[in-house]
Amino acid sequence: MKKKLKKEIIKKNALYEIAFTLNGKKVSCKIKPSTLLLDLIRDNFSLKGTKPGCNEGECGACAVLINDMPVNSCLYLAINADGKEITTIEGLAKNDGSLDLVQEALVQNGAVQCGFCTSGMAISIKAMENNFKKKKKKLSREEIKKELEGNLCRCTGYVKIIDAAESVIDRKYI
Ligand code: FES
Ligand code: FES
Repeated sequence: MKKKLKKEIIKKNALYEIAFTLNGKKVSCKIKPSTLLLDLIRDNFSLKGTKPGCNEGECGACAVLINDMPVNSCLYLAINADGKEITTIEGLAKNDGSLDLVQEALVQNGAVQCGFCTSGMAISIKAMENNFKKKKKKLSREEIKKELEGNLCRCTGYVKIIDAAESVIDRKYI
């Protein structure tokens, strides 16, 4: 019994090598199996745009795209990122540094106040846009609200954020 426990402890403390694509670049690192993706992104790769909010999957501030799907990185074990494509807020801007359509829409609609929720909101809107591109079905305002349910904002009252999301979908629809 004791032997088995010891073996488990060694495993927990072991480092595992993972390789994945981060904002379009192939990267690899050694991590503990308990490392969270949020911590890996912020601490190992110094990408601080992904925010730690509630740390329990409630606020969406830590959202990133994993293979184009929005995921709360505070609940995601980094070891599961092996072989996947991760996009953070820093990966949305184009190579020349200009803003992505989603980021532009948030700025133009005055949807940013303290900014704490903004990267998570942008990631969720981007996921919506990606999904829209695949399905080619325009989302109603109510559907957009539903899609953004997992992202909390304490400042804006949401109207301008939903306006921004709607403008992204509208521009893609034209
Ligand atoms: Fe991850 Fe709030 S910090 S959902
Ligand atoms: Fe402050 Fe959303 S802009 S939390």
